[in-house]
Amino acid sequence: MTIKVIFVCLGNICRSPMAEGIFQQMVDEAGLSDQIEVDSAGTSSWHIGEPAHSGTRRILAKKGITYQGRARRVEPSDLAGDNTYVIAMDESNMSDLRAQFGDHPRLYRLLDFATNTSVRNVPDPYYNGNFEEVYELVKDGCQGLFSTIRQQEGV
Ligand code: 4NP
Repeated sequence: MTIKVIFVCLGNICRSPMAEGIFQQMVDEAGLSDQIEVDSAGTSSWHIGEPAHSGTRRILAKKGITYQGRARRVEPSDLAGDNTYVIAMDESNMSDLRAQFGDHPRLYRLLDFATNTSVRNVPDPYYNGNFEEVYELVKDGCQGLFSTIRQQEGV
């Protein structure tokens, strides 16, 4: 059965597209793209249809990742399935998801998987412009998440 990973932030233009791009690259490089499906969405409808923020596209491009997704709002079907991991960027995304959809058995915060930082909420680069710092944090979290999923799902 396909494993699904959906990254969720507020606008789906800065942090969750960055996580999606980084995680997709890890999946592709491991040859697991037919077993792990990667996506992202936002808890708000503010930026629906927009491309990722130029800061996110720029840093991803610098790392050899092309991102072509458009912002969309998270919907109930995104959370369905026994093999679906819902990965929030911060505590407020977690509480927004719980308020909108109730509890989910595999709802996690990305940086709870990080091993090189004590930061637990991905800061929002939309407000501070610090896409480089956010990239490093998101990458750290994605590495931990990827190995956790590989272990738990046996892939
Ligand atoms: P994101 O960042 O949740 O990482 O996509 C934001 C994007 C837009 C806004 C806030 C955060 N906004 O206020 O429009």
